[in-house]
Amino acid sequence: MRATSSFAAAAAILAASVSAATPAYLGFNSGSTLPDRSAKFKKDFVQEFTTAQNLKNAPGKFDAVRLYTNIQAYSETSEPIEAFDAAIETNTKILLGVWASGVKNIDPELKALENGLKKHGSKLTDLVIGISIGSEDLYRDSATGIKNKAGLGAGPDVLVKFINDFKTKFANTPLASIPVGHVDTWDAWVNGTNKPVVDAVDFVGVDEYPYYENGKGNNIENSGQLFDRAYNAVKAAIGDKELWMTETGWPYVGETWDLAVPSVKNAQYFWQEVGCRKLFNKVPTFWYTLRDSNPDNTMKFAITKNLNTEPMFDLTCPITFKTPEAAESSGSEKPPSSTGTNAPAPTGGADSPTGTGAGTGTGSSTSPTPTGGASFKTFSYAAAGLSAAAYLAAML
Ligand SMILES: *[C@@H]1O[C@H](CO)[C@@H](O)[C@H](O)[C@H]1NC(C)=O
Repeated sequence: MRATSSFAAAAAILAASVSAATPAYLGFNSGSTLPDRSAKFKKDFVQEFTTAQNLKNAPGKFDAVRLYTNIQAYSETSEPIEAFDAAIETNTKILLGVWASGVKNIDPELKALENGLKKHGSKLTDLVIGISIGSEDLYRDSATGIKNKAGLGAGPDVLVKFINDFKTKFANTPLASIPVGHVDTWDAWVNGTNKPVVDAVDFVGVDEYPYYENGKGNNIENSGQLFDRAYNAVKAAIGDKELWMTETGWPYVGETWDLAVPSVKNAQYFWQEVGCRKLFNKVPTFWYTLRDSNPDNTMKFAITKNLNTEPMFDLTCPITFKTPEAAESSGSEKPPSSTGTNAPAPTGGADSPTGTGAGTGTGSSTSPTPTGGASFKTFSYAAAGLSAAAYLAAML
């Protein structure tokens, strides 16, 4: 009896550990530069990570961070980003990022990571929860990205090569077993031509901004449904690969984008109906964002002012939600509106990496930061709006 039950218990533990899903990390995105384009240093990251962990009424501990680069901003010698030092000091888990667009190789990125390992050893590797090779490169390289001058991207075969470059170089290090992924806009993931990237990764990082989905009825009340439809479309496209929500959020200030109005109240609604209902403590999630970094983007996504631990709105999660569970409401089937198709041209950021040299990867880290959230999507969804009918017919 005793033996049987302890065997059963052991089997249960084994089964649990075998099927154990990735923890539902909670974190924010963090670029390598400040709004004035100067470099972030250790103290800046410490400030961010400390605030993130102490947010009032947060639905969990935001003790993870997603980075866009391993390279300290403006370093030309592959110095490791000082976010590593700050993460160690604050016990913050790290989703590493490798900038992969407009570069011939990712050697400087990998070199910086190697330097980080040399400098910090297991203090660093113990905190690493994964690595994303690239950020929205497929989107920028797509027909719509090119048409919208979204800047240099990278195609699926280039990304697969970079993924293998990482795996080869770190094969005999403590990072050999971390999940390797790629981050892109949801519409890039449902594009069949990009399937080789899905096949090459352990997890799929998805960026989703219903705010930018002009032409699809993107008023705040519909944001949960728009979110679900894109999320489900990605799920269907990636089979059994894990989905990590790498960017999502709603601006508290900025221009009205088709039917989407930025406001603190709407940012809170989105936090509740998308974050609380679908993501927090369910899916690894990196909210966009704690601190804005893109001076060119008029839409601001930060949930706090000046890294105050009391956010602009109450982060408490409600118990019931307004978004209908079956996200098939006719509201989201609206045809593209003229507002949508005439969406104002997005401001720089995405397509204007600063002169510090995409070649070294450092300069590019100033663009993903900001843009990551905003301007890339600006292009993406402005474009998606233009062909919304096709999108709706084809995938939703
Ligand atoms: C689909 O992906 C391929 C490869 O990344 C890209 O060239 C193409 O433009 C994409 N199609 C659309 C409609 O974005």
